[in-house]
Amino acid sequence: PRLAILLSGRGSNMVALVEAVQRGVLQGVTEVAVVFSNKPDAPGLTTAAALGCPTASLAPEGRKRAEYDAAVVDVLQTYQPDYVVLAGYMRILSPVFVRAFAGRIVNIHPADTHQHQGLHAYEWAFENHLAETKITVHLVDEGLDTGPILAQAPVDLRGADTLAEVERRGLAVEHHLYANTLAQLIRQELPTPSIAERSATQH
Ligand code: GRF
Repeated sequence: PRLAILLSGRGSNMVALVEAVQRGVLQGVTEVAVVFSNKPDAPGLTTAAALGCPTASLAPEGRKRAEYDAAVVDVLQTYQPDYVVLAGYMRILSPVFVRAFAGRIVNIHPADTHQHQGLHAYEWAFENHLAETKITVHLVDEGLDTGPILAQAPVDLRGADTLAEVERRGLAVEHHLYANTLAQLIRQELPTPSIAERSATQH
């Protein structure tokens, strides 16, 4: 299978995934078709190019969300991805995007999505003095961090007395969990929850 990896910033999860494709758990089972960004100057794009990945970007430039997302779908489809992998992609996807790749969009969220959705998940864990937080890898549906969970892993936060330390511990878990979960998904070793079924039971 071919991955399109989407990012907006630094791209440490992208690096972990590319390394897993090049010499880790994803080696031989997948390839990175493109690393795409909504920010043409995202540091992660430069890093991806240095790692030998095809890159592409498209700035929203004032376009309405659905219009922009339709244009992104067009760009991505030229790379024929089997999975769209969000790695710090700081945009909420509109239905036109979610439907174009239904059940094939994966996200990583640095908290338990049952407890926390949206931005600033590490700040939330730090400010609430959590002894443990969870990293979540989930399929993307039309809500914000509401899609069916594929895998979670705990992060021990005992003694983590700065936000930087919380993030350091969390990111280390993220990098392993994301590559391992994608490998399981691709090898069909995970029960694959259906997005349609889930919304039918939710509403
Ligand atoms: C990660 O914490 C990820 O879970 C969240 O955004 C952050 C991206 O970091 N969705 P990076 O760009 O992968 O380093």
